[in-house]
Amino acid sequence: MKKIVLLLFLPLFVLSISSCKRKKYTEVVEVPLPTAEEKMTIGIPDDVKAEAGAFEVFKLPYGYDALAPNIDAMTMEMHYSKHYLTYTNNLNKALAGTEQESIPIEDIFKKLDMSNSDLRNNLGGYYNHTLFFNCISPKAGGKPSDTLASAIDKDFGSFDNFKIKFEDAANKQFGSGWVWLIVDKSGKLQVTSTPNQDNPLMPRAEIPGQPILALDLWEHAYYLNYQYKRKKYIDAFFNIINWKKVGEKYEEALKI
Ligand SMILES: [Fe+2]
Repeated sequence: MKKIVLLLFLPLFVLSISSCKRKKYTEVVEVPLPTAEEKMTIGIPDDVKAEAGAFEVFKLPYGYDALAPNIDAMTMEMHYSKHYLTYTNNLNKALAGTEQESIPIEDIFKKLDMSNSDLRNNLGGYYNHTLFFNCISPKAGGKPSDTLASAIDKDFGSFDNFKIKFEDAANKQFGSGWVWLIVDKSGKLQVTSTPNQDNPLMPRAEIPGQPILALDLWEHAYYLNYQYKRKKYIDAFFNIINWKKVGEKYEEALKI
């Protein structure tokens, strides 16, 4: 008897569920579609301020979109206002209350304990990015002039030879790191590379010297625009090198 009752009510139960499902489906369809596009907002470099401490961020003298299409606005904003700012703040925290807070950064490098990974990474991160942002600008590229042009010809044979050597070192850098144009201890220009946030001012550098040009090869420097095509980013870097500034760095390095 119980089986018969169940069989009689089963179709009603199924119809009831089916009815509920239809109702819910209608409600989902009636949800209004988005009517406005979400817009991305790019900030301005002047709003970026390091927390109180020994070092401040280098003031970027142009907007985040000024280097496009070589470096896109979003990459510049993330790189400058997030990565660079974080290295700066972390360096200031690492130095707070120490005697290193009041000495030139070059002297901090000379005495750097390479086993102190916190200071090593943030000191390098701050210094490397400061030089990187210093040496790129809109309406730049081309070739160096004056004393630096002569020195490049003398030490590399020609500007084209230097460019091949620099790009080759960049393409061969495995993983995150940097490629540098430096003035070595004899006053000669050299191209060298370093891993992570290391640089040629650190103790035990493979080729020590004073950096005058830096190329950031961390993925955060190019991946939003170039993805895996790092070679295209390296090529584009040569369109935005501020050779006038690099020339000034060269003159300063000769006096050290
Ligand atoms: Fe970077």
